[in-house]
Amino acid sequence: MKEGDIELLTGLVKFENSADMEKEYRIGWSWRHVRIWPSTLSRLFKDGYLENVFRSNSYTGYRLSEAAKELMARAEPEETGQTNNEPIATGGLFEDIVGHEDVKELLTACLLAEKPVHVLLAGPPALAKSLFLWDIERVAGKRALWLVGSATSKAGLWDVVAERQPEILLIDELDKMNAADTAALLSLMEGGRLVRAKRGRELNLHNQLRVVAASNRLSMLSPELRSRFAVRMLTAYSRGDYLIVVRGVLSRREGLPQDLADEVARRLDGVSQDVRDAIRVARLAPQLGIDRAIKLLIGGESSEK
Ligand SMILES: Nc1ncnc2c1ncn2[C@@H]1O[C@H](COP(=O)(O)OP(=O)(O)O)[C@@H](O)[C@H]1O
Ligand SMILES: [Mg+2]
Repeated sequence: MKEGDIELLTGLVKFENSADMEKEYRIGWSWRHVRIWPSTLSRLFKDGYLENVFRSNSYTGYRLSEAAKELMARAEPEETGQTNNEPIATGGLFEDIVGHEDVKELLTACLLAEKPVHVLLAGPPALAKSLFLWDIERVAGKRALWLVGSATSKAGLWDVVAERQPEILLIDELDKMNAADTAALLSLMEGGRLVRAKRGRELNLHNQLRVVAASNRLSMLSPELRSRFAVRMLTAYSRGDYLIVVRGVLSRREGLPQDLADEVARRLDGVSQDVRDAIRVARLAPQLGIDRAIKLLIGGESSEK
């Protein structure tokens, strides 16, 4: 198949679809009808893309062969199918995250928006930043691609995105991403277009990519990267919020009975602001009891934590 043949065949498919083949072209259409040079048509015929319906001294009538129709039917979904995707199903999304209502609202809107708005969740550890990314991955399935900044270098961001063609890029630990991947990211966040400097090759993504990222530190990020994101700073939980979050996390995610979850939360009140502390206490409580677990994990010798 020569370069440009697909275009020719696409034109012929359109021509046949818009014509009444039985009535108007019972003996096939000729080169004049489709405005394609006779020698080109006879080559397509030899290659099996056309059938010769009629032949006389003055008229050669063709129509597309079954093989050509099949080939074009298979080629079509790739051309058009991916661009008009259904919206992501956001029902029940973020259900397992306690609080952070405004972040939930923002991220949901960004997932549903027609054009991309990239969001960066920033702030100290244990505020559910990664959990937000996990939840998005869960509802988006293959349409999302999960990357951890510190581990993106193996294949390279460019190659991974080119191969997987995700709609949503989830990047945890954005501050740890290497320079090459950061450069690729900068470019693709602007136009949905990646330019690979090495080979000067370009890739046009079928989908407009949207990025949701998380980072503990903002200071590590270059100004140009930062400005491409809507930066949402998550601040450490207040004591009241901490109680609510710990209760929710321990009963729902860790499977503790509600009264035990309440007790761990109360004992940690004023002692820790870190949800991960509560999870560790809950996991060791069956062996140690709550007080002892808190003492060994947070109090006393391990206070540098
Ligand atoms: N608001 C919250 N709702 C539910 N779980 C939470 C919340 N805040 C923290 N957690 C829990 O705390 C732990 C750390 O959360 P993670 O998303 O890894 O935080 P980050 O990425 O901000 O460091 C996880 O087990 C998570 O379930
Ligand atoms: Mg995290």
